[in-house]
Amino acid sequence: MQVPSNCGKYGGGFRGGSSLSSIPLKEDMKSKDTIIELDCGHIAMTYTALASLVILGDDLSRVDRDGIQNHIRLLQCEDGSFYSSVGGSENDMRFVYCASTICYILQDFSALNIEPAVKYIQKSISFEGGLGQGPFQESHGGPTFCGIASLYLMGKLEALNHLQKEKLVRWLLLRQNTEEGGFNGRPNKPADTCYTYWVGATLKLLNAFQFVDKKLLVNFVLSTQDPITGGLGKYIGVNPDGMHTYLGLSGLSLIENNSLDFELNPVEPSLNISKRAFKHLRDLHEKWKQC
Ligand code: FPP
Ligand code: ZN
Repeated sequence: MQVPSNCGKYGGGFRGGSSLSSIPLKEDMKSKDTIIELDCGHIAMTYTALASLVILGDDLSRVDRDGIQNHIRLLQCEDGSFYSSVGGSENDMRFVYCASTICYILQDFSALNIEPAVKYIQKSISFEGGLGQGPFQESHGGPTFCGIASLYLMGKLEALNHLQKEKLVRWLLLRQNTEEGGFNGRPNKPADTCYTYWVGATLKLLNAFQFVDKKLLVNFVLSTQDPITGGLGKYIGVNPDGMHTYLGLSGLSLIENNSLDFELNPVEPSLNISKRAFKHLRDLHEKWKQC
């Protein structure tokens, strides 16, 4: 049985949940357009579904590769960026990253037009040195991760020249607020646990993580832990949530020889999955090469 990746005709790809496929439509809404709009794959869901399958040890043999490649093809815009779904959406750096992860996981970049994607990423570098969601937008830790990790996965990190790389690393290191100890996502904003991963992983991909003050970072992340539930919040004293708990811990796992009194699985910074899961994926890639 193939893992259902949805509506091959309009480009496969995974939905956020199975309930979307059973939205009851009134007779007069059953036009092709309404169906696409309400029931289509989403590029972020496709990345997370594939990453989850890899984490769970699946061999991806039941995945509808053609449908997914078809989806990627339909979603790339003329400027090189990506929409998230054929039903209509924003197009920006988040979805360039999702497209890159999907093609990397499946080891098939044939549906992704690399040259315009790289140009889009280059044009999104702002005067500050970081990347925005698109050209002329404010530098931000989230899209900076997405753009740099995309270049890394496409094997195009060399598209950044020496000066661009230096300014980028400087901007990223300045995200660590020495008073709070954690990273913020942009200047004059408070430190937030999720940037432990978004900013930390970008520095790791650029071989500059060693310049981070690890002790301050660890103290910040641990101080956001809720004493009752154990989860991490975005700031000290706020309610914890799954996303900040995961990103705080995956960010901390980037620190080698950390002084934590608990163990963390190291994380592969480009894909945000554990090194264990990444090894499983690389083993699969080797196997596919031999077929
Ligand atoms: C908050 O903006 C937004 C975030 C904390 C998310 C940033 C992360 C990304 C864009 C990466 C997403 C990755 C994928 C794969 C979809 P804000 O303006 O509220 O936050 P700020 O005040 O910290 O700047
Ligand atoms: Zn956050």
